[in-house]
This record gives sequence, structure tokens and C-alpha cells, in this order.
Amino acid sequence: MLVNMKDILPAAHKARIGSGAFNAANFETAMAIIQAAEEEKSPVILQLYMRMFDSNKAKWLGGALIRMAKDCSQPVALHLDHGKSLEQVKHALEWGYTSVMLDGSNLPFDENVAITAEAARLAHAAGASCEGEIGHVAMGDQTAYTDPDEAAKFAAATGVDALAVSIGTVHGYYKAAPLIRADLCANIAAKIPDLPLVLHGGTGTPMADVQKVIREGITKINIATQFQDCYLPAMEAELKKLNGAFLPVDKFMDPPTDACVAHIRKLIRQFALKE
Ligand code: 13P
Repeated sequence: MLVNMKDILPAAHKARIGSGAFNAANFETAMAIIQAAEEEKSPVILQLYMRMFDSNKAKWLGGALIRMAKDCSQPVALHLDHGKSLEQVKHALEWGYTSVMLDGSNLPFDENVAITAEAARLAHAAGASCEGEIGHVAMGDQTAYTDPDEAAKFAAATGVDALAVSIGTVHGYYKAAPLIRADLCANIAAKIPDLPLVLHGGTGTPMADVQKVIREGITKINIATQFQDCYLPAMEAELKKLNGAFLPVDKFMDPPTDACVAHIRKLIRQFALKE
């Protein structure tokens, strides 16, 4: 069923379990996420990166995503990840996405508040949910930790339904072993105990750390790089097997899709603290 994040995150937050948010990039990766949710009997958040909202990619794929989500017996939220502008937010809502993120984490505090509050207003008017970010989760190895008092002020001023915080993760693969600040996560959660927190940069973060911060108040866990890096090698392995012979593309795509389903199923179980 097609839902927004408010139908998924508060219950997971209360139960102190994590909810996976996986970045799809095409039909097969999206199908794998939905199939994994179905097989694990778990809600899921399916998200697309903001760059796909600047072209017809998110619009056209969105049609299929909505159909997949409606056909799934489990709650599925369709989310714009790292929205950079109100135009992208408006596109997402117009195209039927049920959730948006406005990432103003690189802006001065007041500007981040103003643009995120407007995104939340637009989302709520459309029956959708909204995520914001305070502190900044960077690419590679630089990060600006979230200040707990700022997080509380930001949450109150914007009305977001989920808040991405920076506690030591980075996007993509780590260049050095990460230091994940569960203590900082606990301090933030103590200031805003009812707001589900979001961990960006799930790839490469030790699962023990992820599970620890889930217990401290992280509810949504974003995974992109490692998921897509499961898909590409699986495609390469199939190409090698073909060795120049022809196979119809729909048949060719089945093994890589199955590899993605297995990958997502395992993460869903780990985030639910079942493994
Ligand atoms: P990774 O690519 O590190 O998994 O980060 C994903 C993410 O945070 C998407 O918003």
C-alpha cells in the first residue's frame, strides 16, 4: 500500500527499531526493494536521489513506483531524497511521491529553517511527509556534527516529520574507520524524544553501530551506495556468463534483481534488530 513516512516511522520509533530507506535508480532496483518488503512483511521507504527529479527519470519511474507500492501488501513510502529546491519538492508532490526531503544543511541556520518549513508546509498540504537535515552529512570524510539544541530549535520551527542528523557517518564509502557518536545521538534524542531521527550514509557503517544508534533514537536508515554496488557486480557476473551470447533483457535482469532482493532483505532484518 502506498503511504507516507508518518504511517511508518512513528511506530518504528516507538518500538525502537529501524526502518530501511533504500535508494532505487531504475525499475529493477525499485522492484527489488518492494519484493524484499513483501517477503520480509515489513514497511519500506523507497527513495530516489534529487538529481532524478531534474529530468523525466523520477517522473516516469514514479508511475511504476506508485503502481508497485499500491500492489504491495506492506506500507511503502515514495520519497524524494536530498531535495535541493522547492521546485524539486513541488515536482515530487505533483508526480505522486508521498514524502520529500528538503536538504538545506549547507545553508545558514535561518535559511535552512525557512526553506525546510516551506517544504513541510507544501508536503503536508499534499498529504505527504517531510524530512529536513541539521548538521551536515558530507561525502567522503568531512562532516559537521549536529548540535542538539539547534536540532530542537530546527524541529520546532519547521514542523518536519523526520530529522536527519550528523553523528559521524558520511555518504559513500569511508576513507577511514568511522567514529559513530551514539552519545551525541542520545543527546539529540533527549531534546526531541518524539521525532524520528534519520541516519544518512548507511553504507559501510558497522552494523553494531547502526543497531546501537537505533536504540538511541535513529529510526530511518538511508542506504544507497552499497545497494547499488550490489546490483552492478551482479550485472557484470551475468554478462560474463553470457560470454557474447544473446539473452532477452527481461531474463538477463532476473539474477541481478534477485541479488538485490537478498541484500535488502538482510538489511531490513538487521535494522529491525532481528539479526
Ligand atoms: P550511502 O550512499 O552512504 O549509503 O548514503 C545513502 C544516503 O544517505 C542517501 O541519502
